[in-house]
Amino acid sequence: MTKTPIRVAVTGAAGQIGYALLPRIASGALFGPDQPVILHLIEIPHEKALAALRGVAMELDDCAFPLLQGIVQTSDLAVGFKDVNWALLVGAKPRGPGMERNDLLKDNGAIFVGQGQAIAAHAAKDVRVAVVGNPCNTNAWICQQAARGVPADRFTAMTRLDQNRAQAQLAIKSGTSINDVKGTLIWGNHSATQVPDFYHATIKGKPVTEVITDHEWLKTTFISTVQKRGAAIIEARGVSSAASAANALIDHVRDLYFPTPAGEWRSICVTSDGSYGVPAGIISSFPIRADGKGGWSIVQGLELNDFLKEKIAATVKELEGEREIVKALVS
Ligand code: NAD
Ligand code: LMR
Repeated sequence: MTKTPIRVAVTGAAGQIGYALLPRIASGALFGPDQPVILHLIEIPHEKALAALRGVAMELDDCAFPLLQGIVQTSDLAVGFKDVNWALLVGAKPRGPGMERNDLLKDNGAIFVGQGQAIAAHAAKDVRVAVVGNPCNTNAWICQQAARGVPADRFTAMTRLDQNRAQAQLAIKSGTSINDVKGTLIWGNHSATQVPDFYHATIKGKPVTEVITDHEWLKTTFISTVQKRGAAIIEARGVSSAASAANALIDHVRDLYFPTPAGEWRSICVTSDGSYGVPAGIISSFPIRADGKGGWSIVQGLELNDFLKEKIAATVKELEGEREIVKALVS
């Protein structure tokens, strides 16, 4: 029997991440090879953006994807979020060279107020929201506050890109395959204060600290490479990561949609319940397991040494500071 299509809204659909993301959703890479989708492509009401959006939709038509059962193109949020099951909030200004992601708060924060309100008013009852537009943790918090009536656990932000970066760096350094590296984990904010945790990761089943004996490299170069990878890409490309960001967003949604394999976790920014000393209410990256039925939980019981505790405290402080800056938007 044919499955009911899943409606997926993507904001900033004519942008660079949108361009890399949409064909993958429509091809079945997101929800699987037998799950039809309807794409809701949302852009700003500017002629140039809407013209680019028309071009993207034409290309999607030209791919003749069997699973793509419809395309909505709009700059009207009521239409864009109507009955959507997933809202992927990508549309926002990217940072340029020399900027930090939270320099974007002033320009991008307000976007997520209107989008949160429209999601609450028009999306399907089971809607789930994944925020990518930076600074994504705090934008997700704004959206959640604005989306009155939508359960708080539906709002997530993306650190899967950072997790993937960490996994790749550990594989390269140890001369192993990406599949040998398990349990990489990001705590905190998707920013330069994020905490890539190597203490809980393994390589070929052994603690990373046994396989990579240069602990100074792990504590310094590894961490700063992951923290600053976004900036390094902007420096090299002149624009921010897009292919890897779109790929991570596919991973992020799959991480929540499908059950997490036994004994594993994934890095996802969710609303803290106070676990690991992160103040309740903040949207911070944690080790998450999904049940495959729409539920998720924070993995409990990981031991934090002083090194991790100190770094997590710093990233949490940054998140609290960002929340202070935007509080007025949602009060
Ligand atoms: P881009 O400039 O190529 O595209 C952004 C698109 O969003 C544009 O087409 C623009 O018209 C549109 N847009 C802007 N405001 C909008 C709004 N209110 N509603 C709908 N559409 C809107 O940028 P990009 O490279 O695709 O990046 C998008 C965002 O994702 C940036 O904020 C970037 O910093 C962020 N990003 C986050 C991660 C992450 O890991 N969380 C990774 C990469 C990029
Ligand atoms: C990334 O991590 O690549 C994105 O958040 C873009 C950026 O500004 O670094």
